[in-house]
Parts: sequence; structure tokens; C-alpha cells
Amino acid sequence: MTTNLLEFKDVQYTYPGGKAPVLRGVSLGIPEGKKCVLLGRNGCGKSTLFLHGNGIFQPQQGQVFWRGQPFVYKRSFLQEMTKKVGLVFQDPEHQLIASTVSEDVSYGLFNQKLAPELVREEVHLILERFGLLAMADVPIHHLSLGQKRRLALAGVMVLKPELLLLDEPTAYLDRYQTKNLLRELDQIHANGTTVLMATHDLDVAFEWAEWMCVLDAGQAVFQGAPEEALVKRDMLERLDLGVPLIAEVWESLPLDLRESWGGGTPRSLGELRKRILQKTV
Ligand SMILES: Nc1ncnc2c1ncn2[C@@H]1O[C@H](COP(=O)(O)OP(=O)(O)O)[C@@H](O)[C@H]1O
Ligand SMILES: [Mg+2]
Repeated sequence: MTTNLLEFKDVQYTYPGGKAPVLRGVSLGIPEGKKCVLLGRNGCGKSTLFLHGNGIFQPQQGQVFWRGQPFVYKRSFLQEMTKKVGLVFQDPEHQLIASTVSEDVSYGLFNQKLAPELVREEVHLILERFGLLAMADVPIHHLSLGQKRRLALAGVMVLKPELLLLDEPTAYLDRYQTKNLLRELDQIHANGTTVLMATHDLDVAFEWAEWMCVLDAGQAVFQGAPEEALVKRDMLERLDLGVPLIAEVWESLPLDLRESWGGGTPRSLGELRKRILQKTV
């Protein structure tokens, strides 16, 4: 049986001064080892939920669990959670705090009281891995948005989290950059980190996710495999999330063609292309 790394049970949260709760009893689990997506329209509460995922926010009702253990809102536990759950904010400006690239990546390691020699080694490795080595001494304000995003991700991955939370990582990226990012996340996942990405982009979710949670107006309304979500297309349409483009394309093809190309809806254009080639070569 898969264990849930992170679990939210009936989590409620109202912002100070807010009239209505933003999270209205969210219950959902993030299974260990899966590529997960938290899908929902703008304003449904994804970012607010993420802030509960590593203990920055504390639920006013309900509980958050790590491997079945309830969060304890004390310094030592929260420090531990910061290591285990890496959170990459949507806006890298909220994440990057030091003045240069290497200083920024060092920050979390120094916080963990690692020896300077070890910090230097880890920083070198991670900058190399994320293609930022040549920029080690560049001031952060000289970086492009894409480079800042990479740096924010590197700064989180250097701490080797068990769970990576990414808030709308594909926002403002073009198709090429999005593709690269998804491959990068595949790599991170292949190296053993569970990944949860918040997005409102159903196409990205459908192509990439193995596990999908749908949030609507502060409540979890679905969790399961993306194919199952497709079966519940009334729900997707009702929530204005639409239908994945690839599903629309697929369903516009004649039935006999679909059957000869493998039956079930392909998850991406790449997969469709592969199936067609296999049949025609
Ligand atoms: N700091 C804040 N203070 C008050 N309300 C907020 C704050 N941040 C977000 N909200 C409100 O909470 C709701 C959910 O926001 P958010 O979690 O950012 O949703 P999402 O990430 O899905 O777009 C929105 O209505 C938003 O206006
Ligand atoms: Mg958000």
C-alpha cells in the first residue's frame, strides 16, 4: 500500500481580517513517490494550502500529517519540516533573499549549521546540476525570471527534500520552457523526491501527473488518477477547468482509428505521435 507523505484532514483557514474561510475543510493525501498535481482555478486556495504543507501556516481547524504524524507547531518540528518539504513559491522574488546566486543557495545549508567546506561542495554540485555554475557570483537582480526560477528550485533542492511543492511553476513559461521544466521535474522525481505541483493548467496536469487532486472554492473535490478525472468530465467542465486539449483532439477522431491506435486517450501529443508512428511504420 502506498503511504501518504503529507495529509490534510478537514483543514480550515481564514486570513486575518478575512470575512470567509479560504480553505473550507480540505481533506486530501499526497502519496509517496508519485508525480502529483493540485489543480484548481485561480483563487481556489492552492497557495494557501501549500503554506500549510510545511507548517508556515497553521490550520485554524483540522490537522496536517507527515507520514501519519500530526504536525507540531514548535520550532524544532517546523525546522525539520522545512528540510523535508521544499516549497518553491510562484514568484521567485519572494524566495530569493541573498545578493548573489551562490550565497542564496548556501543560505539554507548554513541554517542547518553545515561546515563551510561541506556547504561549498554542496553548492557547487547543485549549481552544476541546475546549469547555474557560470553565474555563481552574479547578483540576483541581474537574472532573468527563468533564471530566478531555476535558482529558487536549486535553493530548495540543495536541502534534498522528500517532498517538493511547486506553486504554479509553469506560469509565464513558453511551451519550450514548460517542456524543459517538466523534464527537470521528472528527473527530480526519478531521483526519489515526491513532487506536488499546483497549477490551473489542465493540459499540463493531464500530461504530467500520476496523481491528481482538484480543489474548488477551498474544498477538495477529487483525488485520483488523471484518467479517472477525465471520466468525471462533468466535474471538470462544471469547475471551468475544461477538458484536456489532447482529449478533445482524440475524441474528434473516428472510433476505428482510435481503436487501431490503442483505445484509451493518450496523455500528450508526444504519446499520440508515438502511437501513430508505431502503427504506420
Ligand atoms: N494574504 C492574504 N490575505 C487575505 N486574503 C488572501 C491572502 N492571500 C490570498 N487570499 C485570498 O484567498 C483566496 C485563495 O487564494 P490562493 O490560496 O492564493 O488561491 P490560488 O493559489 O488557488 O490562486 C483568494 O480569494 C485570495 O484573494
Ligand atoms: Mg496561487
